[in-house]
Amino acid sequence: MKIAFTLACCALLLAACATTSEQQGASAVAKLSAKSGSQVRGEIKLTQVGSRVRIAGEVTGLAPGEKGLHIHERGDCSAADAASAGGHFDSHEPKNWSTRHGGPHAADRHSGDLGNIVFDQNGKAVVNMMVGGIAVDQGPIGIIGRALVVHFLADDLKTDPTGDAGARAACGVIER
Ligand code: CU
Ligand code: ZN
Repeated sequence: MKIAFTLACCALLLAACATTSEQQGASAVAKLSAKSGSQVRGEIKLTQVGSRVRIAGEVTGLAPGEKGLHIHERGDCSAADAASAGGHFDSHEPKNWSTRHGGPHAADRHSGDLGNIVFDQNGKAVVNMMVGGIAVDQGPIGIIGRALVVHFLADDLKTDPTGDAGARAACGVIER
């Protein structure tokens, strides 16, 4: 009887956990290809988690330190320098959303401003961030069909419109 009661309690606790944790939704992937003569490789998964998006994966092939990461407006990585991907994705949503460049958690930012990823001494960056203001769909704030871009330099999180992050070292179309 006591064991049954304990089991019932456990089941209730587990149910509570399941309903209060944020539900994982749609996911997409961006396979990065090297651009501008770099040796960058990587694959990043983008998963809807509640109202935010988890951006996670590994990128290799850049010098140690912080390098800018953005979602650019067009899912076109065909140009050798990835200029075909256009500028930073800016949804202008919600209305009156600022169009100035910023960090991933700034009130003033482009939707695609993801800040920096950090490369270690072996030239590897482990990416794992949660970002709001975007969604894994094709709606007004959707990122499907856009491009994920890694830069050669650090994003200073303020210089408008580029973050002064230098040339585009890798580009990958965000696809389901
Ligand atoms: Cu960029
Ligand atoms: Zn920006």
